Amino acid sequence: MQINAVRVNDRLAYLTRFGTTPDGGVTRYALSREEKAATDTVARWMEEAGLQVRRDAVGNLFGRLPGRRPGPAVLTGSHLDSVPNGGHYDGPAGVLAALEAVQSMREQGLVPELPIEVASFIGEEGSRFPHGLMGSSFLTGTFPYDEISHLKDRDGITLDEALRAYGSDPERAREAAVAPGAYKAYVELHIEQSGMLEARGLPAGIVSGIAGMRQARGIIRGRAEHAGACPMDLRRDPMPAAAEVILEVERAARESDPATRATVGFIKAMPGGTNVIPAAVELSFDIRDLDGARRDACVERVKAFFLQVCHRRSLTAEFEIQHTSTPIRCDSGIVQTMTEAAGGVGMEPFQLPSGAVHDGANVSLVCPVGMIFVRSRDGLSHCPQEYTSPEDIAVGTRLLAETLRRLAG
Ligand code: GLV
Ligand code: MN
Ligand code: MN
Repeated sequence: MQINAVRVNDRLAYLTRFGTTPDGGVTRYALSREEKAATDTVARWMEEAGLQVRRDAVGNLFGRLPGRRPGPAVLTGSHLDSVPNGGHYDGPAGVLAALEAVQSMREQGLVPELPIEVASFIGEEGSRFPHGLMGSSFLTGTFPYDEISHLKDRDGITLDEALRAYGSDPERAREAAVAPGAYKAYVELHIEQSGMLEARGLPAGIVSGIAGMRQARGIIRGRAEHAGACPMDLRRDPMPAAAEVILEVERAARESDPATRATVGFIKAMPGGTNVIPAAVELSFDIRDLDGARRDACVERVKAFFLQVCHRRSLTAEFEIQHTSTPIRCDSGIVQTMTEAAGGVGMEPFQLPSGAVHDGANVSLVCPVGMIFVRSRDGLSHCPQEYTSPEDIAVGTRLLAETLRRLAG
């Protein structure tokens, strides 16, 4: 199967304008104007490609290539939102490769047996509201909307308000959910975000499984006082407690397994003044592993340490789990299909795990899932330096197109 490598890379370059940052990265939060503009652009391209375009009640975008018979569609795609000052490839590469594969199929007069649907999921990153994989969670009916609709982003806008401003209809959110078996398979192309392919000189690889993450928020409350007047032994300062906890997070992951990853990516002191002992410190926890039990043990260790440090320092502690995703193994049948297809695109069928989390982890609740990774330069991602070459995008897109063709028949 041929694909148009220039078109997919041109489109990738075009989308960079939506939310571009001064240092060349992108900030395109869930349900933002920028995510909307990028999604509208992709919707227009889907229409030009002759796909049947629709949006579900929450704002996920779908473009469908009908098959010879109705049957469950093969789903493919990714997301268009980003982390703060992230890269231009994480997400868009998968949406546009999927569109390219399907558009090329149509242009070559290939009509699959089953329909193929290209999806762009809203809010995968969880950078604005504390629950990522948003669009795919609505799709699987697992988004805890009623529990968290009141939560605010850092500008004080609630999730409910943000959804409505985006044009979504939260009252009809349940209609976005599909039953198990609604799709035959889900296949996502994504950048690798790590350095295994580059180290082996490979343009692309086949994903064996996706790590599961648990994200939590901790708040340590002490007593705000004068930084100069208050003696050191009379303070109830939450900041040194936070420092102890952060070091424990690093230790806990290092002493677990190479597949365990633990990060404090956000910290905020309140009120946040150079000469004020903070009244409170908020920090985020992101703990992941390919092994769920090992991940949970790491979370428990961090939580126990957090509570114990706060107790020892006479501080008040709050620790709240905000989002959990389950580690999955990719479907062996899809991995086999990709392995066979790899020969056709001149690619070594190298398998590798994903330390990052993807919508596929969720979609696996309703159908078998497979993923293709394309090489990331220097293994960098979630930063403006994120880069995948046009040649590698083309190889991955070819493998995706071949895989979709085989899965849809
Ligand atoms: C998404 O990129 C994640 O793994 O957090
Ligand atoms: Mn990401
Ligand atoms: Mn992503």
